[in-house]
Amino acid sequence: MNITAQIKQPIQEEMELFEKKFFESMSSKVALLNRITYYIVNRKGKQMRPMFVFLVAKMLSDSDQVNERTYRGASVIELIHTATLVHDDVVDDSNRRRGFFSINALWKNKIAVLVGDYLLSKGLLLSIDNGDFDLLQIISVAVREMSEGELLQIEKARRLDIIEDVYYEIIRKKTATLIASCCALGAKSVSEDAILVEKMRLFGELIGMAFQIKDDLFDYTDDAIGKPTGIDIKEQKMTLPLIYALNNCSPKEKSWCINSIKNHNKDKKRVKEVIQFVKDKNGLTYAEQKMAQFQQEALSLLQDFPNSTYKESLILMVNYVIDRKK
Ligand code: IPE
Ligand code: IPE
Ligand code: MG
Ligand code: MG
Repeated sequence: MNITAQIKQPIQEEMELFEKKFFESMSSKVALLNRITYYIVNRKGKQMRPMFVFLVAKMLSDSDQVNERTYRGASVIELIHTATLVHDDVVDDSNRRRGFFSINALWKNKIAVLVGDYLLSKGLLLSIDNGDFDLLQIISVAVREMSEGELLQIEKARRLDIIEDVYYEIIRKKTATLIASCCALGAKSVSEDAILVEKMRLFGELIGMAFQIKDDLFDYTDDAIGKPTGIDIKEQKMTLPLIYALNNCSPKEKSWCINSIKNHNKDKKRVKEVIQFVKDKNGLTYAEQKMAQFQQEALSLLQDFPNSTYKESLILMVNYVIDRKK
């Protein structure tokens, strides 16, 4: 059995029912929207966020059961995740997603912006219409922080003056906060214990940090991950490997590197040279080390829970974030 099948085993029924509910949650009376959402659900992603929701909920539930709130929470999170990907590909001017064309590549930016807004509103309404206000509060914090994170990233890309702490702030906001919400929400859907909910939120945040560092490492490879690689430098996105290299080179190398990113970022040969420079300066190794630190911190938070198949799957999930191939 492969690793993802193994992780999903204790939540198989939940994931199947989730997929049905998730698709239904997108429906609209506007034919164009239905065509696009149909396209989206047929190219589903790894669904890691709903997996976190169900695994955490089942690990903490006294009855080993999730409830309707858990399902709605998982759908809201995946709707919001999908919305941000649709918007992110407009922002990053990226034409591929999940191994196919992105929405902006097929239907243009105008439509992608509106589809993203639609998915976001459908997510929020799913919570509101059912009175899940405690879950909505958890989710809304993530929505705000994701926009802030993407904007902070753009601000830093324009000035090329990012330091390591700001990088962590960016990835915490744009990525880790949503995974934190998955775990907090999964917990909140079955428990009123605020300390427990906070512990799971922190667990998700730590994994989210490792998750985005992994994503940023992918950009330095030629691996077939279903979306473009090598585009972060083109977009002047300064990620951890590059930040480390810039902090650990001579002033001359630094100005060559900054100049390349500022003025030659559309020159394919030059971008390749920058990528090689980052590798030579051990930027990838450093980022891998940091990723492993977040992984270990996340794992340590699971220690106190009694053993269960759900806990085992969560441990596998944490390791999958680091070892995944896409
Ligand atoms: C991609 O998330 C966006 C990031 C936060 C890096 P995923 O890698 O979870 O995307 P899908 O849903 O599996 O396509
Ligand atoms: C992902 O950042 C953050 C969000 C989707 C909010 P990236 O721009 O690195 O994600 P990918 O690589 O396009 O999936
Ligand atoms: Mg992107
Ligand atoms: Mg990326």
